[in-house]
This record gives sequence, structure tokens and C-alpha cells, in this order.
Amino acid sequence: MKPLVYLTRRIPEQGINILRKQGYKLAINPLDKPVARATILREIANADALLCMLSDQIDREVIDAGRNLKVISTYAVGVDNIDVICASKKGIIVTNTPGVLTEATAEVTWALLFACARRVTEADRYVRAGRFKVWGPTLLLGRLIGGKTLGIIGAGRIGQSVGRKARAFGMKVLYFNRSKEPEFEKQTSARKTSLKQLLRKSDFITLHLPLTRDTKHFIKLKEFRMMKQTAFFINVARGPIVREADLAYALKHNIIAGAGLDVYENEPKVHPGLLKLDNVTLLPHLGSATVESRTRMAEIAAENIVAVLQGRKPLFRVT
Ligand code: GLV
Ligand code: GLV
Repeated sequence: MKPLVYLTRRIPEQGINILRKQGYKLAINPLDKPVARATILREIANADALLCMLSDQIDREVIDAGRNLKVISTYAVGVDNIDVICASKKGIIVTNTPGVLTEATAEVTWALLFACARRVTEADRYVRAGRFKVWGPTLLLGRLIGGKTLGIIGAGRIGQSVGRKARAFGMKVLYFNRSKEPEFEKQTSARKTSLKQLLRKSDFITLHLPLTRDTKHFIKLKEFRMMKQTAFFINVARGPIVREADLAYALKHNIIAGAGLDVYENEPKVHPGLLKLDNVTLLPHLGSATVESRTRMAEIAAENIVAVLQGRKPLFRVT
């Protein structure tokens, strides 16, 4: 019997071809949107492998329903949507696609940083609304990035990549991380600090932690109050690391200057308070959304499945 692979979304063809070449039976969600939970529960019943998205909740119930399941391959680096402990107890291997989305996510961080500093999305709305009648000496003034201090919360692959790019703009780099990163420090002259110091001293603060039980609501009103009133806050990691209502409050009351967000606490919902504000730029979780990254992610997610089903070591094993 050929193994059955269930894909909760259609991924780029390069990945699907890798699975086809093995002669696997493929069940692919035909819709251009997430499947209903009931559908996942039904489709997974006979599947040997699951290829899922970060927007699918792969919890105990789903894992229990996958009676033949040998591998859960997520098309993402984050695994906060998967009960990896439960999977591991059942001997199901969980794999992800790190590395190939590091640059894409670091670049989107910079896109948000610039958007915030120079009020790019606000200015675009201004022009579209027909309000650009004349050049003005104090029209839509932003803030300089050059010479400022960048504070990186979480200096893993993505955080470090963001830090390396900061050199080109002559920024000072601070980072908060569990471990000291000597190589990163050598490359960027970055300095490891306490969270408090980072929040107090940085002009731009970017967040790159994974979402775990320990990092839920890591950034709340108390932390926003420690930031400079002129500070900008960027989150490209996971929404629940920040208490979103507190961020909306901090932005509305000018406790900080602005924010750039790629992720949300209750994705795809966005706190209604944020939608009304001009000092926040909002993206629909585009961190890895480049042709290059998404193609490589598809290939790796597929190769991870092939490896496990053939009894080999997958490229990237989480548990
Ligand atoms: C994106 O957010 C990912 O985890 O890949
Ligand atoms: C995770 O931090 C990654 O860069 O893949």
C-alpha cells in the first residue's frame, strides 16, 4: 500500500512534485483557504503523513485521530500550533522548515522598521486620499534610523540576521537572549543586555522569540511603559507574545511612537483599536512570503516527509 499524505493547503508545486515522485497518494485541500477542523479530523484518519500550516491547530484530538500518522511536517518554522509533546509521546515525528525563511523574515522586519520610521503606509494613504496638494516643510516627518539603537529581543537566526543588517545603517545593536552570542557580537558589535536595559535604551525594538508557555504576553503595558516615548516596536514573531490590547493602548496614548506588526494575538483577527490608528503598520503574516522562501519551504516540508516515511533522518526534526 502506498503511503497517504494529507496536505491542509496546496503548497508550491515543487514540494508536491517531490511527494508525487515517490508515488504517494496525496489528499490535498482543494480550497484556497484553511479546511474546517472536522475535515482535518476526517482526512487524517488514514494518513501516514500530515503536511500542515501554521494556521492549523494540530492538538491532541487531531493527533489521536491520525491513527497511522508517522510524521507531522509543518510548512513553517514555528511549531506553537502543534502539540509536540503529545506527538512525541505517540512516536510521531514533527518536522519544520527553518533556515530558508530566515532572510525573508529579517527583511520583512526591516520593511516594517522603515515603514514605521518614515510613516510609509500612512503617507501612502495620505496620497491616495487626494490630500497631497503641496509640498510641506513639516509634512509627515519621520525619524532617522541611522545612528539609532536597535534592540533585538531573541537573537536566534532571524534576530541575528536583523542585527547584521543594522550595521549598514550605522546603528548600535543591543540584544536580549538566553545565551551570549559571541560570533554575532563580533560581526555586529552587538551588546547583550537585560530586557529592562534594552527596553529603556532602544529606539527600535524588534521581537524574534518563539511562542512558548514562557513567552506568552512577554510584552505588556509595563514593558511598553519602559520604552522611550519615541520608540518603535516591531513584531514579526508570534502575536500572543504581546498583549495586543496593551499595545493598542500604548500606541493610542503615545506611550510609544509607533509599531509594525506582521502577527496578531488572535490571528487573523486584529485588535479593533489598532485598525483605527495611523501610527501602526499592519501586515497579514508575510514573514516568509517570498517566492524563494516559500518554494524552498515546500521542498523541505516534502523532503522531511519522504525521509521519515523511508526511515531516514529528516532534514529538520523538532521532536
Ligand atoms: C512563520 O511564521 C513561520 O513560523 O514559518
Ligand atoms: C528560526 O529562527 C529560523 O531562522 O529559521
